[in-house]
Amino acid sequence: MRLFLGSDFHVDYRENLDWLRGLSRSDFTDDVLVIAGDLSDEIDLVKACFDALSTRYRRLLFLPGNHDLWTSRSGRGSSFEKFEQLQTLCHDYGIETGSMAIGSSLIVPILGWYDYSFGEPGPTIRRGWMDFYKCNWEGLQPAQVAERFDALNMLPDTVGFDRVYSVSHFVPRLDLMPARYPEKHKALFPVLGTDRIEARIRALGSSMHFYGHSHLNRNKVLDGVTYINNAFGYPSETEISAKTILHVADL
Ligand SMILES: [Fe+2]
Ligand SMILES: [Fe+2]
Repeated sequence: MRLFLGSDFHVDYRENLDWLRGLSRSDFTDDVLVIAGDLSDEIDLVKACFDALSTRYRRLLFLPGNHDLWTSRSGRGSSFEKFEQLQTLCHDYGIETGSMAIGSSLIVPILGWYDYSFGEPGPTIRRGWMDFYKCNWEGLQPAQVAERFDALNMLPDTVGFDRVYSVSHFVPRLDLMPARYPEKHKALFPVLGTDRIEARIRALGSSMHFYGHSHLNRNKVLDGVTYINNAFGYPSETEISAKTILHVADL
């Protein structure tokens, strides 16, 4: 059984959805796919992804990204309710949202939100970052949202497993981003991730961690853990994304 990774399909772009629908119907039927968030804020488009992928892979693991938790186009309710709605949808599709044991391997989702542990946002981000307009966190600040999600992480007992893999939507450590990066992109650092995820990775003893959100494909070893980003990204992001689903391990 092979383990594949994809994230940030952003199927509001029709070409991204068409790419998913064009995947082989026979090549992956014994395989596992981890989807590390950012399918779409539209629930019908999330369903379109699940329809396409659940028929192609034997097992799927999904955890939401920030775009999936936008509520502005879904009518009522808070982003916490949207999170619950997505959990229920996954359950209906037979898509897993908790720790997944496969043989001697364990794959663990780590929920999170950015909490400015990577820096305080400047005026451009405070004015222009869409989550601030599209999410409804019932008046909570990002650090409080991060705390709420971190509290949902029921990290499993890893005794007896040879390998632990973990996955988050958000970036677990800032040094995964290039030090030499254009200043206008560095402005995004505060909303990329949280140190809380890195603490969970270390507590779990993960050998590999998968993440999305930055849309910057990476494969980097830091302090003994291999970090992989395989975000699909927006159609224009051809330089930073391989635009594929990546085979990351054999289980
Ligand atoms: Fe994304
Ligand atoms: Fe994201």
